[in-house]
This record gives sequence, C-alpha cells and structure tokens, in this order.
Amino acid sequence: MNKNPYSPIKAQIKEVIDETPNIKTFVIELEEEMEFSTGQFVQLTVPGAGECPFTPSSKTGKTALMDITVMKAGAATAVLHEKKPSDIVYVRGPYGNGFPLDRLRDRELLIVGGGCGMAPLRSLLHEILSDRNRYPRVIMLYGCKTPRDMLYGDSFGEWGEEFEIHKAADKADSSWDGKQGVVTELFKDIKVDAAKCVAVVVGPPVMMKFASLELSKMGVSDDRIIVSLEKNMTCGFGKCRHCLVGPYYVCKDGPVFEYGQVKDLPDVWD
Ligand SMILES: Cc1cc2nc3c(=O)[nH]c(=O)nc-3n(C[C@H](O)[C@H](O)[C@H](O)COP(=O)(O)OP(=O)(O)OC[C@H]3O[C@@H](n4cnc5c(N)ncnc54)[C@H](O)[C@@H]3O)c2cc1C
Ligand code: FES
Repeated sequence: MNKNPYSPIKAQIKEVIDETPNIKTFVIELEEEMEFSTGQFVQLTVPGAGECPFTPSSKTGKTALMDITVMKAGAATAVLHEKKPSDIVYVRGPYGNGFPLDRLRDRELLIVGGGCGMAPLRSLLHEILSDRNRYPRVIMLYGCKTPRDMLYGDSFGEWGEEFEIHKAADKADSSWDGKQGVVTELFKDIKVDAAKCVAVVVGPPVMMKFASLELSKMGVSDDRIIVSLEKNMTCGFGKCRHCLVGPYYVCKDGPVFEYGQVKDLPDVWD
C-alpha cells in the first residue's frame, strides 16, 4: 500500500540549543530513520500551531537524529520556540533537490551566508568536512546583524582551521573581530579565480540578490552562482502550487537554483 504523502513521522525533541536571541536549534529524534541530502528540506508540524518548511542543519545521510535551526518568524515558529526536551513534533520529507555537490567539488568554493541561511550551509559544511580532499579551497563570507546574532558562533573556531573565513556585522561592538558592514563588503577582501569558482549564497532574499550581483561583477557566471529560495509552501512535493515562482515549483524544482534560472523572475528577491 502506498504511504499517504502527507503522513509525518513522530519525533521527540531531545535538546534545545539557544543560538541567538531569536534562533534556536532543536535536536530531534525521529521514530523512523530518514535519509536526506544537504540543502533538502522537511515539513515540520508544531502540534496545534501549524506546519513549516525547515532545512536540517545537521550531518546528512540516513539518520533518526536531526538538527533543525529555527528563527522565530511568526505564529508557528513562536510556539516551537516554547518547546522543551521530550515534547513531540512531526516531520515529513525530505523534499527538494539539495545542493549540487558534484558541481561544487574540485573547485574554488565560495560560500556566502547570512541570517538563518546558515542552517543549510551548516549541513553543507559538515558534508565538505566529511569529504575534505574534494574541496581544495573553501572561502566563507558570513554576515549577521550584530555580534549577538552570530549563528553557530561556537563552530567558527573549528571551521576557521579548515576554511578561509571572513565575517561582518552590520553593527559591530568591541567584542567583534570581523568587519563592520553588510556581507557584500567582504567581497573587497577576497581574491578568487572567477573561472574556477562556484558560489553558494544562502540568506535573506535581499542579501542573496546583492551578493549574486557582486559575484557577477567579479566574473562568476550565472550558472555557477547557486542560491536557495524560501517561498511559502503547503504540500512540499509539487501538488498545491503555493510555491510557484515563474515556471518553477520551489519545493520540487528547488529550493536550490542557479542564479541564472531565477534572477529575473517576479517576487524572488522580495
Ligand atoms: C525550503 C525552505 C526552507 C526553510 N528553512 C528554514 C530553516 O532552516 N530555518 C528557519 O528558521 N526558517 C526556514 N524557512 C522559513 C520558515 O519556513 C518560515 O520562517 C516559517 O514557515 C514561518 O512560519 P510561522 O508560522 O512562524 O510564520 P508566519 O506567521 O506564517 O509568517 C511570519 C513571516 O514569515 C514569512 N513566512 C511564512 N512562511 C514562510 C516560508 N515558508 N518561507 C519564508 N518565509 C515565510 C511570512 O511571509 C511572514 O512574513 C524555510 C523556508 C523554506 C521555504
Ligand atoms: S509547496 Fe505545494 S507545490 Fe510546492
């Protein structure tokens, strides 16, 4: 018998990590293992509050344990932020295409992240670290509003030993060892070989737009700028049309796209 595609797997919250004033990571344990690849998303039900798409931020593969990093954005995420270890949520998926790893390997990989966009990028960084030799040069540009909003701050030490990291805070203070300004300011500090470079840009739409424009100016072609879009979703698998952007279903054809596929479509960068 075919499984109802809307029927989720029960999961228990094992740990809640306070990341920033409005972002928490929930370590959840599913009753059944789920296999996902980096950049794919799941639909998570917060009982009584609603269902939302999130991209697991943990190591990929077949697993019952999953990290979901959640920014408080509205009704359902506010209720989720009140949840404690042993509380129950429900998860279905995974959905979407994920990052095209075959196109990122053996290149100069430039990762540009901001806000909760670091959630899928954290799972990508796990992937890179587990196959380190295939990624000869990894540069990461990271932007946050203030030092307090820096996501996964504890991991930057380890990442800094492996990758070239440049970071910027819109509003810095004396504790900040990066630059002051928006993330695109950091492009001035790096040199990449545009012909060898592939960029992955994930963050708020306006950040992805301006970072992609900056990359274009540097000579990186549109098909080698990879973005991950967030659109309102319902089904998650190409049935309800809620996530339609131009000719694409973000849930099924994405959420990961080449910049060239989506740059001129309406409502992408709002
Ligand atoms: C593929 C995908 C992956 C995502 N991954 C993550 C993640 O890892 N971590 C994370 O914190 N958030 C992620 N999001 C965004 C997250 O799904 C929304 O913030 C969440 O659904 C808001 O639900 P809410 O009920 O709390 O807010 P609502 O009360 O529904 O809305 C609050 C605000 O959030 C906006 N919003 C609502 N739904 C979405 C949505 N699906 N995408 C973007 N904005 C939305 C609304 O327009 C409104 O401005 C992802 C979204 C998509 C599409
Ligand atoms: S969310 Fe239903 S078609 Fe994409």
